[in-house]
Amino acid sequence: MTTKKPATPPSTTGAGAPSPSDRHSLTIGANGPILLHDVHFLEQMAHFNREKVPERQPHAKGAGAFGVFETTADVSAYTRAALFQKGCKTEMLARFSTVAGEAGSPDTWRDVRGFSLKFYTDEGNYDLVGNNTPVFFVRDPMKFPHFIRSQKRLPDSGLRDNHMQWDFWTSNPESAHQVTYVMGDRGLPRTWRHMNGYGSHTYMWVNAQGDRFWVKYHFHTRQGMQFFNNEQAKNMAGSDADFHRRDLFDAIARGDYPVWTLSVQIMPYEDAKTYRINPFDLTKTWSHKDYPLVEVGTMTLNRNPENFFAQIEQAAFSPGNTVPGIGLSPDKMLLGRAFAYNDAQRNRIGANFHQLPVNKPKVPTNTYMFDGQMAYEHSGNQPVYAPNSGGRPWSDPSGKVDDGWEADGEMVRSAYTLRAEDDDFGQAGTLVRKVFDDAQRERLVETVAGSLLGGVRSPVLERAFEYWKNIDADVGKRIEEKVRKGQAPEPAAGMSEA
Ligand code: HEM
Repeated sequence: MTTKKPATPPSTTGAGAPSPSDRHSLTIGANGPILLHDVHFLEQMAHFNREKVPERQPHAKGAGAFGVFETTADVSAYTRAALFQKGCKTEMLARFSTVAGEAGSPDTWRDVRGFSLKFYTDEGNYDLVGNNTPVFFVRDPMKFPHFIRSQKRLPDSGLRDNHMQWDFWTSNPESAHQVTYVMGDRGLPRTWRHMNGYGSHTYMWVNAQGDRFWVKYHFHTRQGMQFFNNEQAKNMAGSDADFHRRDLFDAIARGDYPVWTLSVQIMPYEDAKTYRINPFDLTKTWSHKDYPLVEVGTMTLNRNPENFFAQIEQAAFSPGNTVPGIGLSPDKMLLGRAFAYNDAQRNRIGANFHQLPVNKPKVPTNTYMFDGQMAYEHSGNQPVYAPNSGGRPWSDPSGKVDDGWEADGEMVRSAYTLRAEDDDFGQAGTLVRKVFDDAQRERLVETVAGSLLGGVRSPVLERAFEYWKNIDADVGKRIEEKVRKGQAPEPAAGMSEA
């Protein structure tokens, strides 16, 4: 049988020479052993062994697309960030994800969804790494690794485990608000296009005069919110584990570009000191009556990646990547995250991850970080230290930090000081009673009871009933009744378990 000559030029080795063959290894005779000097074969084998990078821990399963953010309103009274000046259009990248599942896990498992944005601004990259819910499970970053491990897999069987999840949640009652969101409809978005995104944390905005404001970001989907029910999500997990990834890619490929409107809640700097809840507590939302939404602009995703690995897997988002006019806040979770992400990426991708095209700022850089594995960009023979007399610029502002805040006191290890209306269950209860309708409450009861029946044992089970009664007495009672009814009767004394 003859094979047609390929239309494209033949492949090459990594060194650029024509490959000897991509189909046959070099052997002594057709049936003989393979030769060690078949360098092309060895190169293929060795590179294949190094083809993956460690998956993200957490948020391993996800996908994304490029797009544009356009600022349509004048919010210059609140921030001088170039990307948020009226009329500015900024290229961007978005990545959506589940939290607990591994890289190949189904998109439609019940979970929070990641909502990561990278804006390639004229002042460097600005990353907003949020979720499809406005709050989070814990409020001290010390708890984060424990939380994630409790949602992942058991050490012996490697199985996921409802008991472990509820053990963590009920031992950390500040999780109630976010758990209510996740057990509600938001835990099963129909597609990524049909969900909102939130910065979740409180951030700082600084205007040209140096005035400071606290802000919360809300990205509202223009496609409308849509959700799966438990049955639909379960069936989809079995029939198309990549449903959300496929949906976004196909929509963009056919020109049906998803759009979100960005609005912010703005709190004057001084208000934060006396607001009735701690405005930096990530388990809380701010009342929209107190701080109404102010529209900023639109985000449109209009370009699919050409290469998933290069542009999505190697994408490195970090809440620590801010630009002038935008700062962090005293939210302890945010401060913990400011370190965690780039460190994860040094481990996951390599010390020079910021040089990869998807992570590289569109503006010229002049960093004093040098060399390391796979250093691609270099600064020639310029001085490698600062200050220097060789004419290479370095930064040296001193004095008040324009995106800073006051802090004073003894060093302690402590929970936040409570404000008048701070508690763990109040806002979760409001969500259940005032935001959910009857049908949503019924679905919530079904979902929680189903989850508790999935292997949650005493004393965690009793703690879970208590937890839900603290959120809402009626919902808690209904959950307990449903679980008690669904529990297999205890085997009679003396009967052996078959
Ligand atoms: C102290 C708390 C937290 C820590 C230490 C932490 C740490 C991490 C780490 C290490 C990654 C993997 C990064 C990578 O390999 O590129 C990650 C991913 C992610 N985290 Fe967090 N996280 C925290 C809280 C949060 C919160 C509160 C949110 C949302 C409001 C969030 C949203 C995300 C998202 C969306 C991703 C995926 C990023 C991507 O698309 O590449 N995380 N987190």
